[in-house]
Amino acid sequence: MLGWDETIFRSEEVFDPDFLPEVLLHREQQLNQLTANIMPALRSSSPVHTLCLGPPATGKTSTVRYVLSQLGDTVERVYIRCPALGTPYKIMSRVFESVCRHQAPQAGIAYTKLFEKTMEKLDKPLILVFDDVNFISVDIVNELLYLFLKAPEEYGVKLGIIATATDVKFPLALSPEVGAVFHYSTVHYPLYGYEEMKDILRWRVERGFVEGAFSDEAFERVVELASDSGDLRFGIYLLRAAGLNAERRGSRRVEPQDVEAVYTGGAKVFLAKTVSALNSDEREVLKIVYLLDEEVAAGDLYRFFQKEVGMSYQRFYEILNKLERLRLVDFIFDKKGRGRTRYIYKRCDADVVLEALREF
Ligand SMILES: Nc1ncnc2c1ncn2[C@@H]1O[C@H](COP(=O)(O)OP(=O)(O)OP(=O)(O)O)[C@@H](O)[C@H]1O
Ligand SMILES: [Mg+2]
Repeated sequence: MLGWDETIFRSEEVFDPDFLPEVLLHREQQLNQLTANIMPALRSSSPVHTLCLGPPATGKTSTVRYVLSQLGDTVERVYIRCPALGTPYKIMSRVFESVCRHQAPQAGIAYTKLFEKTMEKLDKPLILVFDDVNFISVDIVNELLYLFLKAPEEYGVKLGIIATATDVKFPLALSPEVGAVFHYSTVHYPLYGYEEMKDILRWRVERGFVEGAFSDEAFERVVELASDSGDLRFGIYLLRAAGLNAERRGSRRVEPQDVEAVYTGGAKVFLAKTVSALNSDEREVLKIVYLLDEEVAAGDLYRFFQKEVGMSYQRFYEILNKLERLRLVDFIFDKKGRGRTRYIYKRCDADVVLEALREF
């Protein structure tokens, strides 16, 4: 039995959502690309703008933060988490405060004025990170990007933009004006495979738990659940939650029963997050798939959307592919029937998905 003042955790913070591990496994290529793009800043020349694209929990934020943390103080860097700072004024205040090192006025001044002051003050190359850029309105993105991209010309500053997005279509949202000046290199972040997730999760177990506290069987189950959902973050969450569950029942070892006990509730929360990030067309398609009793042929479903919503063929297939990438639906090709008909299957619990659609 585990005493009331004992713990099976060696270091619980390795499971925190914003914990930055010292090693990012299976992301060598992305780290190299990011480093190479930023490198010119260290030589006081212009960094290469970079767009990091990939599904949730594929290491975009972590790799960018890691590379920034390795830079010395010859480079100015500003990290902006876009969903948290949704307005141009708030974003510009953050940039102003980092560069000018004093507080921006709360109001009474145009954000373009803050921008001017920042650029005049800037005496080092600047790396500007727009993390989760697809979570703010595209008009704001275009406005801000245009302003910053023109700065080298107007103020003689060196400036590199790193933007991350989960939506691979993000570049299409950029205005022609921005497109004309935004020349970037793209870094792709594919989903982690089963073995990759296993390596990453094992590292957390070794760092986070007392030796032997996490049973192999329980660990296997976490890896399986994480890789089924395609969400590494879910795996990290399960490790900690299962650990806490084992402690609650006074056990020195995390067993599969602990994983099962925290799985359902956790799956709901994670699914709700994915669903809440979908746009209205995507939600509509997801809803219909989950309202149907059986699997449906992609073509039949398309005909429905064409008739009811007037959705284009291309748009419809883009949505289906996205839902598949997010592990919300599965495709199965029917080889018996006529040609290669693609059937769409529900991948998650229908009640949970429909509830998430209602709530968000
Ligand atoms: N290669 C890796 N090695 C170790 N941990 C990783 C790795 N990639 C991601 N993680 C961990 O997975 C979680 C999600 O990673 P991160 O926040 O970087 O993903 P993201 O691509 O930015 O996701 P989102 O699109 O949702 O913002 C974090 O807890 C992070 O520490
Ligand atoms: Mg991120």
